[in-house]
Amino acid sequence: MKKIEAIIRQESVDDVRQALSTAGVTGLMISEIEGHGKQNGVVQQWRGEKYKIELLPKARIEIIVKDKDVERISKAIIESSRTGEIGDGKIFIYPVDDAIRIRTGEKGEVAL
Ligand SMILES: Nc1ncnc2c1ncn2[C@@H]1O[C@H](COP(=O)(O)OP(=O)(O)OP(=O)(O)O)[C@@H](O)[C@H]1O
Ligand SMILES: [Mg+2]
Repeated sequence: MKKIEAIIRQESVDDVRQALSTAGVTGLMISEIEGHGKQNGVVQQWRGEKYKIELLPKARIEIIVKDKDVERISKAIIESSRTGEIGDGKIFIYPVDDAIRIRTGEKGEVAL
């Protein structure tokens, strides 16, 4: 199993959730986060004064998937969130040792 962690624009959440549902994803986590990439936030101008926003709000979607589904689901996220502009976000993939459904005690992929 792998964890797919996608940091995306907040405006993309609805489209990505729809794409994930179509791709057969049944469980996921979504949280609001703040962060920055290589532009280190954006410089904006307000009343003639330039100031730097160092952290921008983003959405984090985490999904634990079977190894065989990693490519397909990552692609669904990319296709539903990519604008081509800076700040589109990033996907990180992590190994997952195990999963346990608390109600039944099921372990591994059947617990997803
Ligand atoms: N190396 C990183 N480690 C942890 N989080 C990151 C990293 N890079 C980006 N992020 C997270 O992803 C969000 C979006 O990053 P962003 O899309 O701006 O990346 P980027 O590398 O600057 O690419 P781009 O040039 O397309 O903007 C950040 O706000 C941050 O939350
Ligand atoms: Mg950036």
